[in-house]
Amino acid sequence: MYTPEQIQDFKNLTNKLLEHLDSNNHSLIQSSIHSISEAAKEVTDLRDVINFHDHMYYVQSESIITDFEYDRLFKHLKSIEDHFPALATDDSPTHRIAQGLTKEFPTVSHIVPMLSLDNSYNEDDLIDFDRKVKDLSKLESVNYTVEPKFDGGGISLVYENDRLSRALTRGDGIMGEEITPNIKAVKSIPPKANFSKYGIKTIEIRGEVIIPKEKFKKYNKDRAEAGLSELANPRNAASGSLRMQDAAEVARRNLDAILYHISYAVDENGNDLLGSTFKKRSDNIKMLNDLGFKTPIKELKILNTGKAIVDYCEEWHVKRDNFTYEIDGMVVKVDNLELEDILGATSHHPRWAIAYKFQARQARTKLLKVEFQVGRIGTITPVAKLQPVALGGVTVSSVSMFNEDFVKDKDIRIGDEVVVERAGDVIPYIASSIKESRSGHETIIHFPTHCPSCGTKLIRSEEEAAWRCVNNECPAQVYERLVHFVSKDAMDIAGLGPASIDRFIKEGWVSSIPDMFRLPYDDISKLEGFGEKSVEKLKLAIKAAKQKHPYRLLFGLGIRHVGETTAKNLMEEVNCIEDFERWSLEEFNALYDVGPKVAQSIYEFFHSEETVNLLNELKSIGLQTCKPQKSGSETEGKLSGQMFLFTGTLATMTRPKAEEKVEELGGKIAGSLSAKVNYLVVGADPGSKVEKAKKLAGVKVISEDEFLVMIA
Ligand code: IVH
Repeated sequence: MYTPEQIQDFKNLTNKLLEHLDSNNHSLIQSSIHSISEAAKEVTDLRDVINFHDHMYYVQSESIITDFEYDRLFKHLKSIEDHFPALATDDSPTHRIAQGLTKEFPTVSHIVPMLSLDNSYNEDDLIDFDRKVKDLSKLESVNYTVEPKFDGGGISLVYENDRLSRALTRGDGIMGEEITPNIKAVKSIPPKANFSKYGIKTIEIRGEVIIPKEKFKKYNKDRAEAGLSELANPRNAASGSLRMQDAAEVARRNLDAILYHISYAVDENGNDLLGSTFKKRSDNIKMLNDLGFKTPIKELKILNTGKAIVDYCEEWHVKRDNFTYEIDGMVVKVDNLELEDILGATSHHPRWAIAYKFQARQARTKLLKVEFQVGRIGTITPVAKLQPVALGGVTVSSVSMFNEDFVKDKDIRIGDEVVVERAGDVIPYIASSIKESRSGHETIIHFPTHCPSCGTKLIRSEEEAAWRCVNNECPAQVYERLVHFVSKDAMDIAGLGPASIDRFIKEGWVSSIPDMFRLPYDDISKLEGFGEKSVEKLKLAIKAAKQKHPYRLLFGLGIRHVGETTAKNLMEEVNCIEDFERWSLEEFNALYDVGPKVAQSIYEFFHSEETVNLLNELKSIGLQTCKPQKSGSETEGKLSGQMFLFTGTLATMTRPKAEEKVEELGGKIAGSLSAKVNYLVVGADPGSKVEKAKKLAGVKVISEDEFLVMIA
């Protein structure tokens, strides 16, 4: 934790560094730093400042500078380190996004074994637990800490001499896999923490890596847009991320880490501090929080009766849907650490803690058949058709089974009774098949060897979970590509839904993106359901599409691994889409937030003759491949020089639309709240930004109506 004085100091230092960058006009090393000692000072300042902003943003959820400013500081640090390799250190924030592949994880012993928790489901179970604790400890009353049970992937961190020295997965509880490079990509875990302030030399901390629900949704949306299969739930995404080979991909997953337990702490003489110097679990949480870790400090309550504990657990049962993270229960632990040794553990569970599990939101139904869908880049997805069943307020009749491994790992068969799970907002998925209810008539799901749409032999590369049809002309892919091209987030061509596209393909009118701009309108007006009026509307929508911002076209082209966000970021780098034809693979790789797989895919796309021809053709048709030119003068738009930020839900338009409008009028969109924002536009159910904005001089908080007047 930073004191108010430290926060002020860091703000000042940030401004100083940014001004320094401004005055040197971005030409980093050459003009500003002449010697390694000067560079060393700058590097130390930059690292401290970046660690500070990481902490404020990822742990305190507060942005003090804009994303743009943060990126500048980050890139500056990276470029000094590249220039003076002697200054590079493992704990630099630039190493959070490790380059390259991790390949394999060595297994390493935990200092203290990582046991799992015994489960309880009701008040009686908890009263039993409390009685046993009291019997064994011979105490009349015991305080317990009660906090959420986070549903992610368990981790164990070791800090030695204030530095993160290794990070392990749970593994078999005795040995874990060393995943330190991936953990360095988790920004809420500080690489350095001042444990020596508390007299600690070596410490082992336990916690959970987890993806906030909102970020998980966004991540899945981007994956779907990039033509990739979606991940089943935040838990799978988080625990899968821990063991990924590509640390840059880990960074993109926006993981958080919540630390909730200290399993080992010794001073420089090797004296055990737990239970002696550190007496209470709740104080340990305060200490971790003070040292900059994300902890359940706000959610933690100290209670001492079964009834009070159940009440608090049930309070969370009700509010779990509105919580930032997925939780599957609560954890009750003895607060007094001296009791840990006295109570001890069975071979599986500690006797000083118990989980209180919420009822999972599940339903049972029958798997009727499996269909294989072909995505726009040829990915084959098995889709389970289910006997319709009610689950968490919706009827579920069709769920994705993601890929072949999912089906095989869970041994799902046609005719099986299956458990369908839906946690919070997450898409429903098959959690398991019930082997005991099999009659013997169930059939194994065979993956097709050839594309169900065009018959081409399917391929599956080693590092991918999906089978793929590689025929670019495959009718199913053409259809999906065109549907994607006209979709809301891409070219947003109103009046052209999937059904019309299917019809136009069948009529032989369209088979490629350029065909969408030479539709035979006379013939269309003769089709059933297409009057003169709707054809006129369609003409207008197609005409308007030609003028849209080129990021939409770039996204609409459906490059593998390129979602809407990446498309927007890419367009920040160039004036015209075709500029990428001259980019090298290294240049794509050097982009912040673009990993090697994505870079390779974009590079291949732009270096194919087909793409060059396609872009030429689209340009000759009149599509905008270049960004609108800015005149640079004050008169370029009525919002010129004004920075906007939106919060909450707008009633009259979507947020991307509103942002587009601002940009059309010459304004800018801020990446986060800072004093540089001129207007914070507040929709329904705004977040904490409003209160923060009121404290920032210069930020005007305006309503949607006021915004509409400004853009009218
Ligand atoms: S305490 C020995 N606290 O649940 C117990 N665990 O089934 C120390 N978990 O392996 C762990 N949230 O991965 C604890 N607030 C919390 C937790 C939590 C999630 C996980 C953890 C553990 C598993 C036990």
